[in-house]
Amino acid sequence: MSRLITVSQNAQSGFTVAIDGPAAAGKGAISRAVAAHFGFAHLDTGLLYRAVGRRVLGGLDPVTAAQSLDPADLVAPDSLRTAQIAEAASRVAVIPEVRAALVDFQRAFARRLGGAVLDGRDIGTVICPAADVKLFVTASPEVRAARRLKELCDNGFETDFATVLADVRARDARDGGRATAPMVPAEDALMLDTSMMAVDEAVAAAIAAVAARRAS
Ligand code: CDP
Repeated sequence: MSRLITVSQNAQSGFTVAIDGPAAAGKGAISRAVAAHFGFAHLDTGLLYRAVGRRVLGGLDPVTAAQSLDPADLVAPDSLRTAQIAEAASRVAVIPEVRAALVDFQRAFARRLGGAVLDGRDIGTVICPAADVKLFVTASPEVRAARRLKELCDNGFETDFATVLADVRARDARDGGRATAPMVPAEDALMLDTSMMAVDEAVAAAIAAVAARRAS
């Protein structure tokens, strides 16, 4: 992971927004919009786990795959957004040594001068417990499965609602039930249930929360 760390070696303290939540809750859209609105950098930490998962599907041992992760593994992020890689990511994400190998890069990114938004599962609890703003974005499993089904179909994957819902539930159980850095809201996180919200509404709520903290 040392090559990834050098990417942010000049980082300094900035404003950090931690956005956690389960699959397809809207974290990605909200994080990108918050970052664009405030001019912050954005890191989708799920891509790190997905890149490790893809390397493991290719035959590498998970810990070696995480420790030798390279920026080149993160280019073409859309190639990482398959159901098979998501599943592999959540399997490698239970391994403490895999998580440990990815911590320094995420924390260095969070300290970037100019501000940073990180989204994932453990940003507000483990990676950046002192983040300036913490959001936990949720939605019902059925709503999330419907959103993920649309995303996958739009990207040319053939699947169906029952399969996607089962995947979402299995990942929720694995991510929430693991011993190391389980997906749980930080005690001081603002909860944002997007089940009944359009993307624009959820984005506006998140931007308002960050703006309020910056003004205080
Ligand atoms: O896009 P989606 O929300 O479906 O998943 P993702 O954020 O790309 O994360 C894929 C998997 O990586 C998750 O199911 C988690 O198991 C794992 N992950 C994690 O453990 N910790 C993070 N900070 C980010 C992702």
